[in-house]
Parts: sequence; structure tokens; C-alpha cells
Amino acid sequence: MGSRLEGKVAIITGGGSGMGEGQARVFASEGAIVVVADINNENCGTVAEEIKTVGFNALHYQLDVRDQQNWHDLVSYTLETCGKVDILCNNAGMNFRTDFHSQTYDQYRQIIDVNLDGVYKGCKAVGDAMRKNGRGSILNIGSLASSKHGGGTGYTVSKTGIIALTKNVALAYAADNIRCNAICPGHVDTPFIREDSKHSPNNWNTTIENPENYARRLETIPLGRFQTPDDVAKSALFLCSEEASMVTGAVLNVDGGTSLL
Ligand SMILES: NC(=O)c1ccc[n+]([C@@H]2O[C@H](COP(=O)([O-])OP(=O)(O)OC[C@H]3O[C@@H](n4cnc5c(N)ncnc54)[C@H](O)[C@@H]3O)[C@@H](O)[C@H]2O)c1
Repeated sequence: MGSRLEGKVAIITGGGSGMGEGQARVFASEGAIVVVADINNENCGTVAEEIKTVGFNALHYQLDVRDQQNWHDLVSYTLETCGKVDILCNNAGMNFRTDFHSQTYDQYRQIIDVNLDGVYKGCKAVGDAMRKNGRGSILNIGSLASSKHGGGTGYTVSKTGIIALTKNVALAYAADNIRCNAICPGHVDTPFIREDSKHSPNNWNTTIENPENYARRLETIPLGRFQTPDDVAKSALFLCSEEASMVTGAVLNVDGGTSLL
């Protein structure tokens, strides 16, 4: 337990699983009140309950990042219950792993709606509250696909766009003491690449449950292991804390060196 986020209020999307869950746990253990937000209400409720059970502060809220009104209501709820918003971490994401020819326009749009427009809506939704607060820190999650081809068309387009969006938001809000940065994770062992879910369909050809796929990905990680949600959460903690008070518009690879190859 530490105090690097003592008294801070953090909204964490995708908080019901994987990296968002990891950030919720680490941020809460550093003194933040975390609002664990996810389209999966059961999962974000469970994460918030578990955080409270170990003595830290958490709330949960069902959020579909595609829905602007839902974002507005979440920010209102956070202001009513916690008084302010200091941090927003945009983790919610989805993918259909198909190339340009086989990906339908509907699939492409769904990915952009969640991964890129959902983040845009989140940055918009917290802007006024953070300005009134006189400070703020926003963290967006890119990918290896932010800098190199891979993961399917909609995914690559959305994650490339995240970098442009992050820099735009950083510049627009710098005078308000609101920072905006991005982390580009590499291969992180989460349900996103392991399980077959609605937001991230996987089959035997794509899941890391398949030992061949696991080994193939592992070969591309110079530091020799998959990243964990905790690896990403610790970098997120730095970027969202006062230690990074002069860091904005930055893109931090947390990928074990994969983007070097
Ligand atoms: N796992 C990886 O290897 C990896 C690598 C690079 C980037 N990423 C990115 O990291 C982010 C987090 O992924 P993860 O690996 O933790 O995946 P995950 O599947 O464990 O968690 C994603 C969460 O997002 C939620 N979600 C999906 N659609 C949503 C919506 N419309 N509104 C609100 N919540 C929604 C899901 O319910 C889920 O809880 C994603 O943006 C993903 O693209 C993942």
C-alpha cells in the first residue's frame, strides 16, 4: 500500500477485466477512490467489491463507452459521490481479428466506435470537470498496432488514431493543467487474447490458449515474457501521478521490447 494517488478520484473504463482491473486495484492501493466502469456490470461490481474487501475505496458504474449520455451520467455520478474527477483511464476495447478484405464495414465501425470514438467521448466528458478541478490526467491505451501493422483493419486504424487523439487532447488542455498520455502495451496476458468473448472473439487460431500461438507471440518479446496487467498498471500509475506532472502527449511502450523488432 502506498500514497502516490492519495485523495485522487479515478474513473477506469474496462475496469471489469484485464488491464483496467489491474489499474483499479493498483490505483486504489495507492490511495485513490476508483470508479470501476465497464459495459459488464457484474464484472466491474465484483472488482469494486474485492477492492473494498481489502480496505480500499471503490465504486462501480455500468458504462457503454459508445454512449455519450452514459458518459455524461457517469461523470455526474462521480461528481455527486466523490466531488471531483482527477484521472480517467480509457481501457475499454474490442476487436474482430480480420483483415481488410474479410472485415465487414459493420465490424469495422463497431471497433472504431469503441476503441477510438469511445475514448474521444470520454475525454470530452471529463473536460469540464477537470477544468473546474484545476488539474487532471487522462490515460489512453494504444497497442503495438499504434505503430505497426497487425490485429486487423479496424483495430489498427483505431489504435493509430489513439495516438493522434492523445496528442490533440494534450495540447488542447495543457493550459488547464490537464495532461493526456498513452500507453502502448505489447502482448498482455488478459482475456482479450485468451478468451472468446463478444468484445474480443477468439478461436483456436487466435487464442493464446493454443500453445503454438503462445510460443509465436513469445518469440517476439525481447524481454522474454508476456506482460501482465500489473506491468501496465505500474506505468499507468506513474503517468497518472504527480511524478509525471511535466509529461503530456507522451506515448509509452510497455511491450518488453516487441516494437523494436
Ligand atoms: N491484451 C493485449 O494483449 C492488449 C495489447 C495491447 C492493447 N490492448 C488494449 O488494452 C485495452 C484493455 O484490454 P484488455 O487486454 O484488458 O482486455 P479485456 O478483454 O480483459 O478487457 C476489456 C474490457 O473492456 C470492456 N468493454 C468492451 N467494450 C466496452 C464498451 N463498449 N463499453 C465499456 N466497456 C467495454 C469489456 O467488458 C472488458 O471488461 C483494450 O483497449 C485493448 O485493445 C490489449
